Parts: sequence; structure tokens; C-alpha cells
Amino acid sequence: MTHPLESRLQSELNQRQTTGLLRTLEVLDACTINLISNDYFQLRSHPLVIEGAKTALDRYGASSSASPLLSGFLACHEQLIGKLKTWKQKSAGLLFNTGFMANQALLTHLPGPRDLILADRLVHHSIAQTLGKQDTRFKRYPHLDLDHLEELLNRHSKEYETVFVVTESVFSMDGDYPDLRRLAALKRKHPFIWILDEAHGTGVFGPTGGGLAEEQGVLPEVDILVGTLGKALASMGAYVLTNSKTIIDYLVNYSGELIYSTYLGPPQVGAAEAALKIIQKSQSTARNIRNTANRFREQLNNEGWQTHTFDSQIVPIILGDPEDALELRNKLLEHGVLAGAVRPPTVPQNSSRLRFSFHAGVNEEKVEEIISLMKSWKQR
Ligand SMILES: Cc1ncc(COP(=O)(O)O)c(C=O)c1O
Repeated sequence: MTHPLESRLQSELNQRQTTGLLRTLEVLDACTINLISNDYFQLRSHPLVIEGAKTALDRYGASSSASPLLSGFLACHEQLIGKLKTWKQKSAGLLFNTGFMANQALLTHLPGPRDLILADRLVHHSIAQTLGKQDTRFKRYPHLDLDHLEELLNRHSKEYETVFVVTESVFSMDGDYPDLRRLAALKRKHPFIWILDEAHGTGVFGPTGGGLAEEQGVLPEVDILVGTLGKALASMGAYVLTNSKTIIDYLVNYSGELIYSTYLGPPQVGAAEAALKIIQKSQSTARNIRNTANRFREQLNNEGWQTHTFDSQIVPIILGDPEDALELRNKLLEHGVLAGAVRPPTVPQNSSRLRFSFHAGVNEEKVEEIISLMKSWKQR
């Protein structure tokens, strides 16, 4: 007889299957061009990045083998934090094993019962999942709607001890972004603690790849910056940077995500440091990546596909129906082009999409080929 647990789990999976929303793991090594990966500068196989990983491997071994509070915090971690602090102009910082853990740590441990969190409606799951789990009140404002955010700040700021405003810079599933200068101006009017997740802005935006906050000249105004090492930095792990030593000390003392987990492996740290060095000098590559994505987006916009109008390396093509997203993704994959079919609950209902993240390895010829494949799918 089937155990009740098996039955319940299977029935929920069946439900997903019948609505076209079942997720599965696939090894996708047959594609010739990968437009899902976040390796924007194609650095994960770069000789200098591999050498960085190998050097750290030789010097420190394959694992940190302990929590950072025991013996897992190594000289390579300290060195990378130093470089990240200089890059993003902050005086204190910490590495986490993943961006997911960094966001969970920040939003679980910093806000208190007398505080309010205001978050963009479409923030990443690593942020959204924390809301309502602790005894901090929260409100979501419509995606990128800073008028609405201002209204909430006007209405509620004085009722709370501390207000946190949390947003991504370049949104992972949408490729669009808020006006960070306006957010900085709002902060001057209604002081809040600003948490900015630069997972997708880092590397591709800013005169040294420092992110959208660097590009828009508001780095000093951001209180807490989060970024991952697993995207443009071609490795794995994440960082939190701030000018508040107290915040870092607090996380070191109270964040279970940091304290009770074996720390990031030395090869990952070495790879990220090597990638960082390359990225800081790669701004013409970053410009090309965005230009290629922009031409692709403009052409599809002109042909009636639904997407955004932002200058960004991430281009979502909104299809609505999850089956359409899968069908178009499979059609492109037959021709070696891997794009992401992103469906609810990752994105809101009726907004299933094909997500393209452009990178340094995409040329004009490839763009034309993808557009022509998409056209033929549309006319099927
Ligand atoms: C905006 C954003 N924040 C955080 C994360 C999590 O980062 P990581 O992959 O390092 O866990 C992601 C990854 O998808 C992301 O897109």
C-alpha cells in the first residue's frame, strides 16, 4: 500500500504535470549556445579563472572543512572580501556560501518586531521567502513602482523604528530595473535601510563592473549590497557589503546560515578572485553584451513579441501559456540554442516566458538565427 506521504506528494506533482508546470532536472550538454547560464563573460573556463581555482586548491586544499567560526575562515576568504570591499566602496563585508543564504540571513536576522520591510513585488525567492516568517511587518509594492513605494513611505515611515527597502537592481527574471537615483532621493526624504541585490547588475553594469548602483552613481547611498559569485564572477558563493561593522558583527554572531555551514571552498574563492580581476577591465565586453541583447530585444519588440524596453543583458519574451514557453524552448533546443522556459510559480501566473541571458559568446549571426527560429515557431 502506498504511504500517505507518497500519495500526497505524488498528487501535488501530478497537479503540476497536468498544468504544464512540472519541474525536472536535465543534463543539457547538447546545446551549442547556452542562453540560460549567468556566466555573462564566459569566464568559468577562462584559463586565468581555472588557474585561480587551482592555485587556491593547491594552497588551501579542496575544502574549508569547517564553519567560518571554527577553522573554515581562511586567508583566501579574507583576501577576496578585501577586494570586493574596495570594488564596491564599502568598509565591511562577509562572504556567504550562496546568494540565497545571504538574502535569507539579512532578511531573517536584521529586521526586528518594531520594523517594516518594503519589498518590490517581484523580488527573488531568496528574499520573498523570508517575508512573513519573522515577526516583522512587510508590504510589497508593485514591480518598479516607486510612486507607490513613496506613498508607503509617506504613510508608514513614522510608525516604525526602522524601515527596510529591499529590491534587486537588475531583476533576474525580467531584466528590468528600478531608477536607483530616485530610490536614493526617496531615502534622503524618508530615511530607510536600503538593501540592494546586485546579483545580475554586477559585472555587466557600471564603469568598473561594480553594478547598477555604480552606473547610476548611488553606491554610497546603498546600506547593504548583496551580490553573488555564481553569475558574472563565474564561481559560487556570495557577498554582503556595508559600511556598518555592527551589521557584519551581528551576522557573524546570529546568522545560522553562516555559522552552521561548512564555508565556501577555496577553489571557488580563487576562481572568483581571478574573475573579478578580469571583469574590472572588461567594460567594453559588458557594453557589447548589452548592445547585442538590446538589438535582439528591439527586433523582437518590433515584430510584436512582448518584452521590456530596458538596456539589459536579460531579455524575457513573455508568452503567457507555460506550454508555449516549453514548446518554443524545445524548438530552439533542437537547433542547439538553450533558453530558459520560466513558468509559475517562479514568475506570476500567465507570465510564462522564455528568458534569454546574453553573454560575451553571442554574436550577431546567432541573434539572427534565433530570431528566425522564433519567427518560424510563431507561424507554425
Ligand atoms: C536576484 C538574485 N538573488 C539571489 C540569487 C541567489 O544567488 P545564488 O545562486 O548565489 O544562491 C539569485 C540567483 O538566482 C538571484 O537571481
